[in-house]
Amino acid sequence: MNRNELARIARAMVVKGKGILAADESTGTIKKRFDSIKLESTEEYRRSYREMLFTTPGVAETISGVILYDETIRQKTKDGVPFPEYLTKLGIIPGIKVDTGAKPLAGYPGETITEGLDGLRERLVEYSRLGARFAKWRAVIDIADGIPTQFAIDANAHALARYAALCQENDVVPIVEPEVLMDGGHSIERCEEVTEAVLQSVFNQLAAHRIYLEGMVLKPNMIISGKKAANRAPPEVVAESTVRVLKRRVPAAVPGIAFLSGGQSSEEATLHLSLMNKLGPLPWALTFSYGRALQDAALKAWGGKNFAEGQKAFAKRARLNGLATTGQYTADMERQAA
Ligand code: 13P
Repeated sequence: MNRNELARIARAMVVKGKGILAADESTGTIKKRFDSIKLESTEEYRRSYREMLFTTPGVAETISGVILYDETIRQKTKDGVPFPEYLTKLGIIPGIKVDTGAKPLAGYPGETITEGLDGLRERLVEYSRLGARFAKWRAVIDIADGIPTQFAIDANAHALARYAALCQENDVVPIVEPEVLMDGGHSIERCEEVTEAVLQSVFNQLAAHRIYLEGMVLKPNMIISGKKAANRAPPEVVAESTVRVLKRRVPAAVPGIAFLSGGQSSEEATLHLSLMNKLGPLPWALTFSYGRALQDAALKAWGGKNFAEGQKAFAKRARLNGLATTGQYTADMERQAA
């Protein structure tokens, strides 16, 4: 393990003014996204869509890294440049999703365990050769009657820590992503209670697995009301609650925290990030690692063919989220031209 290199990459991923584009939708997930614009999910459309995002003019000013999927890391621009090489030349760090998905946890109805540890050491060697400098593993915790159980939380935290250790052994920075879902009608207080328990278990396991904290990035959910909650907490409360829990549970040695958007609207996700950064000074950088909140508008504007409109929409979201990393975003910026 090269600690200096891990720390250098992790810091670059969360540098102020920039954040991470999560473009690692599995073939099943990207099909769902394409279904929403009535587009067939062919390998060429998937390639062309990612090329549209990655070749957006000025993208390296606000995007520090891109999370790729197994298919995407092997694809090329129409001019024949492999995506990881294209991104690296721009100064954008390529990363790779390495989990193989959340599967039902036997014996625990309604709960999942993320798979993908078997053969991971060998896959990391290959991904590293293909240009990946960081990886992502997502654990999924759902809130409903009687769940999550402590057992499911601990099992997922253990898998996350085993993944992180294998990454660091191969000089790949692990993004550690324990996602507490915002589906359902739960209150923000319930989200806070569960997220705090999850982060406690995750950092216990990371310590037990001897993870070098300076060489990782945490990707958590924000503390937020369930989507179907009757009274959803306002943005200021989301920001205060999230920062409070992170201060309690995330060691200052972690260089940065890059949030997932998890089904928030694009505007909400940007506003929440900006409000949190206004609550500083904070021990870690707070940035974004959004999938849907960076891509929704761009996907619609692209529609399968319109590169220029798709890029305009993506550039706008990336720029506004870049401003949110220093607390400079305001909602009225949404109306201004991209
Ligand atoms: P969302 O921002 O759409 O939640 O996706 C981020 C991600 O990488 C989930 O694993």
